[in-house]
Amino acid sequence: MNEVKTSPIQVPAAKIQFLPEDRAWIAERIQEVLASGHLTLGKYGAEFEEKFARFCGVRHAVAVSSGTSSLEIILRALEVQGKDVLVSTNTFFATAAAVVHAGGNPVFVDMDPESFGVRPVDVTAALTPRTAGLVVVHIGGVVSRRMPELVELAQRNGLWLVEDAAHAHGSSFGGVGAGAFGIAGSFSFYPTKVMTSAEGGMIVTNDGRIAQEARIYRDQGKASFTQNAHIRMGYNWRMSEPHAIIGVRHLERLPAMIAGRQRIAAVYDAGLRGFEGLAPLLVPERGVNNYYKYIAILKDRTGRTALKALLRERYGVSLAGEVYEEPLHRQPVFEKYARRPLPVSEDLCARHICLPIYSGMMEDEAHYVLSAVKEALG
Ligand SMILES: Cc1ncc(COP(=O)(O)O)c(C=O)c1O
Repeated sequence: MNEVKTSPIQVPAAKIQFLPEDRAWIAERIQEVLASGHLTLGKYGAEFEEKFARFCGVRHAVAVSSGTSSLEIILRALEVQGKDVLVSTNTFFATAAAVVHAGGNPVFVDMDPESFGVRPVDVTAALTPRTAGLVVVHIGGVVSRRMPELVELAQRNGLWLVEDAAHAHGSSFGGVGAGAFGIAGSFSFYPTKVMTSAEGGMIVTNDGRIAQEARIYRDQGKASFTQNAHIRMGYNWRMSEPHAIIGVRHLERLPAMIAGRQRIAAVYDAGLRGFEGLAPLLVPERGVNNYYKYIAILKDRTGRTALKALLRERYGVSLAGEVYEEPLHRQPVFEKYARRPLPVSEDLCARHICLPIYSGMMEDEAHYVLSAVKEALG
């Protein structure tokens, strides 16, 4: 009988870290709101908004139920109905789905091989008189060095620029934080993200009108909390107080969690220097990456599935999910919006992997991952 050798070491793809003292802090405040009955749109939501706005260096933050709803609310506030919105084809379903739900048409743009975002040249080529704006996504926490150029391009063409910063809490380029480049930024606090509120999202903006519209949209389109006049086609997109409490605490831990991820990334960077089988995505000079993902490009597009299986079965190393496995213009639901082939994304989506990285990961584990990957790639 064949004996299957399994590794005594197991490195998961990702892990969520809540320190015991943080769990106690959160539990105490959840008890408080359960006792008081102030379970939604209360003081913890307001505290989370204020602290998150300060963290991002913007004037307003509006807490909502998810990163998906924060995108849709921004796009509704920008009145995209019937208009074209440029979206990178290399992003999560929700980025383009939010455009459709808000009544707009997503127009897919090919991906930038350097940042996994978009290049100004591809954005320019996709512009038409119907284009209303551009949604930029900071994939894996990488803020492209081309952000100032993209902002300028949008301004020159009378377009707005929105950031889907679902991956990029605490990332920056040239001293500007993710979420603060364009007219508004959208964050997700889904559990896999660098920080979480269990479920949740946040709209950040310097634009008072968008902040005001977001508060209306998230609460059934009501003119205000106490009024029953519905002035927008809103929804229940509120964030509850227990979610806000979790978010407030994790936000305090965010700088330390990012520093931990950066230490692991430095181990990977050093270990992969000069190794030909795998080329990590580089952080631009003057850039800060929160390392939501550690992205590395394989030489060859065949064999990723086999490599992942080998790493898991023989070495106990689980690779994290790709960003992304398949570009959106190839997803069945978006086929009708696909106007042309987008060859860079078709190549790179199939040809990258994401090494395990998470808060609390040990440097020894990263060295082990490196030796497993190098051995597996032969
Ligand atoms: C790029 C991107 N945009 C939007 C979202 C949607 O966020 P949520 O899951 O909080 O709705 C996610 C992830 O989950 C994402 O990765």
